[in-house]
Amino acid sequence: MTARPQALITGGTRGIGRAICLELAAKGYDVAFTYRSNAELARSLEAELASKGARAKGFELDISNPASIEAGMEKVLAEFGQIETLVNNAGISIDGLAMRFKADDFDRLMDTNVRGAFLTTQAVLRPMMKLRRGSIIFISSVIGQMGNAGQAPYSATKAALLGLTKSLAREVGSRGIRVNAITPGFVKTDMTSALPEENKQAILAEIPLGTFGEPEDIAAAVLFLASPASKYVTGQVLAVNGGMYM
Ligand SMILES: NC(=O)c1ccc[n+]([C@@H]2O[C@H](COP(=O)([O-])OP(=O)(O)OC[C@H]3O[C@@H](n4cnc5c(N)ncnc54)[C@H](OP(=O)(O)O)[C@@H]3O)[C@@H](O)[C@H]2O)c1
Repeated sequence: MTARPQALITGGTRGIGRAICLELAAKGYDVAFTYRSNAELARSLEAELASKGARAKGFELDISNPASIEAGMEKVLAEFGQIETLVNNAGISIDGLAMRFKADDFDRLMDTNVRGAFLTTQAVLRPMMKLRRGSIIFISSVIGQMGNAGQAPYSATKAALLGLTKSLAREVGSRGIRVNAITPGFVKTDMTSALPEENKQAILAEIPLGTFGEPEDIAAAVLFLASPASKYVTGQVLAVNGGMYM
């Protein structure tokens, strides 16, 4: 019997991360995921993933805090031994016009979305190199590609992930590790639910497929980039956006 591949998804208990956990568990992966503080949600997700036959465990980890990442990743690796697929999904958005944007908010965005993803990746690189295989996936955003008024700092963090993707792909390709990014368009989650109806309608008008994305649409792309079906794909940006940006 071949061992089940093992995946780690950051920010697994809600939205896109949750859909990724469920999809990978359903397709034969064991799943480690991180959560910030809601232990109850984490335990119920563990049970749901286990019901799909996966070994599953949630680890408390604040992605904006380097010490928390170090401690959390030590636990992940001690329990799972190795991680073949890392999905850097955890992220926040803080919107606001550039003229009024606070430096503290800029730092929070960078610390969470960029440094957090980088340090989590750093923690799995050595074990992946020993294994001589791995797939690292950054969840970036269409806003990192096309920009958006009122989202300059968020856009900058998501564009930064594309730089990480391409540089790391060059750095670790010879070790059998692939690094890719997914740029979701507008996906129905807590992150986007707060937008005023007027803004949602304006965005919808720019989407050729005429609908917002579902978290499962992103999970399907993650499964492709995690699996051997994409074994010759690295350093790429896979847009899953209904045609919103081409
Ligand atoms: N929804 C969209 O339209 C869209 C479009 C493009 C890109 N994205 C990207 O997709 C990713 C997931 O977004 P989503 O829509 O699913 O957002 P969401 O529903 O707001 O979920 C965000 C996830 O990130 C976790 N997280 C945030 N800050 C964290 C921290 N400091 N430490 C640990 N975990 C933290 C959250 O954990 P807690 O539950 O513990 O807070 C949650 O699991 C993000 O990187 C986002 O930028 C989303």
